[in-house]
Amino acid sequence: MDSPVPALADRAAAAADRLLAADSVLLASHIDADGLTSAAVGATALERAGIAFEVTFKKQLDAAEIETIANAGFETVLFTDFGSGQLEHIVQHEREGAFTPVIADHHQPADADTEYHVNPLLEGIDGGGELSGAGTTYVLARAMAECGSDGSQATDGVDIRPASSPAGPPADPSHDHATAGNRDLAALAVVGAVGDMQTVDGELIGANAAIAAEGVAAGVLDTATDLAMYGTQTRPLPKLLEYASDVRIPGITNSQSGSIRFLEGLDVDLRRDGDWRTWADLRHEERQAVVSGLVQHAVSRGVPPDRINQLVGSSYTLTREEPGTVLRDASEFSTLLNATARYERADVGLAVCLGDRAQAFAEAERLLRRHRRNLSEGLDWVASSGVTRETNVQWFHAEDRIRETIVGIVAGMALGADGVDPDRPIVGFAYKTDAEDETKVSARGTPRLTGRGLDLADVMDEASSRVGGEGGGHAVAAGATVPRGKESAFLEVVDELVGVQVGGSGGDG
Ligand code: C5P
Ligand code: C5P
Ligand code: ZN
Repeated sequence: MDSPVPALADRAAAAADRLLAADSVLLASHIDADGLTSAAVGATALERAGIAFEVTFKKQLDAAEIETIANAGFETVLFTDFGSGQLEHIVQHEREGAFTPVIADHHQPADADTEYHVNPLLEGIDGGGELSGAGTTYVLARAMAECGSDGSQATDGVDIRPASSPAGPPADPSHDHATAGNRDLAALAVVGAVGDMQTVDGELIGANAAIAAEGVAAGVLDTATDLAMYGTQTRPLPKLLEYASDVRIPGITNSQSGSIRFLEGLDVDLRRDGDWRTWADLRHEERQAVVSGLVQHAVSRGVPPDRINQLVGSSYTLTREEPGTVLRDASEFSTLLNATARYERADVGLAVCLGDRAQAFAEAERLLRRHRRNLSEGLDWVASSGVTRETNVQWFHAEDRIRETIVGIVAGMALGADGVDPDRPIVGFAYKTDAEDETKVSARGTPRLTGRGLDLADVMDEASSRVGGEGGGHAVAAGATVPRGKESAFLEVVDELVGVQVGGSGGDG
């Protein structure tokens, strides 16, 4: 059996068999980039297998939403990018005969279990850093192609497209060797992993890396060592440097004039036909010149060597997408998807994942502009009003100034901003829009902190349940819902628990 993640092969095969035996499937997924790409991978695999299905997206999979799903009248429900953490509720419906659940998820599983359950954490693989929801669904999709192959899809990769073959989707997918074994879906799986910020030291690792390698072999993906800044396909060069805040370079980061001055000092043409060029427009030698220039500049301004190393990382290029578009780069693609799903337009993001480059793509780009504006306004607000420091964490409460669906993204970005301690977990609050008596919580840490023992999933789960809410997620990024008015009580528990985990002064551990 040939599986991109051998440890999950048996689970994936069992789940695939069950799906292939279904008359109709309801695919339920999460509303973020990883959830959307998970849904697209699952939907494509079902479609290719000739199984009727519908797709539904949920902001949060709680008891009420599972009830709605149970009442939808499908014999089989495929949960992607969530479901493991809600198994207690799910198996209740399974026992009552409402539906058979099939789960492809990478979140911390609840105590209950079910027969068709694909999750890296069940096999000792880190679901926070080594495999995304879309990657897990990809493992399932690969197994579906293997089990379901009637000969037409049984080529098993012997005849895959070389990486050097021309870009652009083939006119007739049935004659496309990359679709053999569903390997072309590796590109979407990588977008999901990058969207969930699963890169470690600038690159995908473990099972994610194995999937990326399959994408490269299938000719849908290219990986390279490149400048690790967001916007390499679409941002004008000065903006690329000005806005990159992961590594702060004095005189360049946050400075438009500084960025332009720096670029003008290099032997690189900055404009073509009057327009700024983008990173994607540069030739290899030009890129090299900019990177060396940046490193020299950073060294001269005293940026520490370990930060300077972070200027370079792995890029993941979707070779079949048009160069210079957001879809060409996994990171930009994932932001486009967040811009749809987090604004109740998951349908638009899914259509783009499934290949719509006309109406849905245009709408997604419009939504992206709004999303960018919201993120920058949210970040400005956090910067100007500041965060409050407790013993072990720092926090802000945006009330209704930041949408609850993006408060987590803002919290994560704020960790790199002025006035925010980059080495202390951050907790962001925002009012829930659909429940007046509830507050959304998003917590973000860093790999350095999780290395010291921080587990925000645990913290969110425990602290929220103590004040009558619920929460979970990953060690480095987690969230919760708490009753409005309980924020302070909740925060007190969070501060104490984090202290115990990282051995700060707030705990006794
Ligand atoms: O529900 P899901 O697991 O897909 O969400 C993961 C969330 O955690 C994403 O919003 C992602 O941006 C965030 N994350 C983060 N930093 C990390 C890892 C994940 O902000 N290092
Ligand atoms: O919403 P946010 O981006 O902060 O979510 C971060 C992580 O925490 C995601 O993986 C999400 O699925 C998880 N989460 C959760 N329970 C909640 C809120 C978020 O498990 N109530
Ligand atoms: Zn995910």
